[in-house]
Amino acid sequence: MKILKTKEAMRAWSFAQKAAGKSIGFVPTMGALHEGHASLMRASVAGNDVSVLSIFVNPTQFAPHEDYGQYPRTWDTDLAMAEEIGIDAIYAPEAGSIYPEGYATYVNVEGLSVGLCSGTRPHFFRGVATVVTKLFNAVLPDRAYFGQKDAQQCAIITRMAQDLDSGVEVVEMPIVREADGLAMSSRNRYLSDADRAQALCLSQSLAAAQAALDAGERDAEVVKALVRDGMAAVEIDYVELVDAATMAPLDTIDRRILLAVAAQVGPARLIDNLKFVPSEITQGASAPAEAEACC
Ligand code: PAF
Repeated sequence: MKILKTKEAMRAWSFAQKAAGKSIGFVPTMGALHEGHASLMRASVAGNDVSVLSIFVNPTQFAPHEDYGQYPRTWDTDLAMAEEIGIDAIYAPEAGSIYPEGYATYVNVEGLSVGLCSGTRPHFFRGVATVVTKLFNAVLPDRAYFGQKDAQQCAIITRMAQDLDSGVEVVEMPIVREADGLAMSSRNRYLSDADRAQALCLSQSLAAAQAALDAGERDAEVVKALVRDGMAAVEIDYVELVDAATMAPLDTIDRRILLAVAAQVGPARLIDNLKFVPSEITQGASAPAEAEACC
């Protein structure tokens, strides 16, 4: 497994792969890898000739008061997991090479970046879209893999990849959960045992909403109220029910929807979601089970 620390070395490696006719799969991460990342890496390895994992804690997606400094850095275990899964190259640039002195260019995806996570993290998607553009330019992937847990991020990156003619196919992979339902996240390691027990209310509330949707509930306010009630013990950031394609809030569930939640649980800000398609418009199918091209 190659470790590439500069964009020049990364691009040279990728050009050599392309010259040899190989397709490149790419999994962008900030490290602190868990089974969710492992599922993305496995999909990349299965679907491409070679696969690249990036590990870069991106400063521009953190506000000054957020956890950039404390974000877990677990280099040795990350490398061991990537190697075992069959990743061919790790791209791990220094922050100074991604954002050198005088850096002034940012990518902003309009529309989709409004609402949900941008309410309390207005800086976030500009930072994500900018760094993913720069990572794509260095790695030159054919396909890039993202998790549905970050559903708004996934929609934004899909839009951006299309709008900027990147030629990258963005693949959204299902949320990976702990045995008790908690969505996997690098930030779960911030949780004490008591926080961890409280955090379960996110996935449990979404499961209750799923049951209501399956039973035919189509009023968005009723579904959101059910979720809010289930999350009463934690500090809710948002409970939103939106059009899964546009991220616009909905009153009636009459299309493919995203039901998304965010909450502060102890020191960790956690997010989770579900997607649902009313059976009326799909003649029976309720949700995509496998990986899909985003949106
Ligand atoms: O989802 C993440 O880990 C990050 O937002 C990403 C896409 C690697 C950009 O820094």
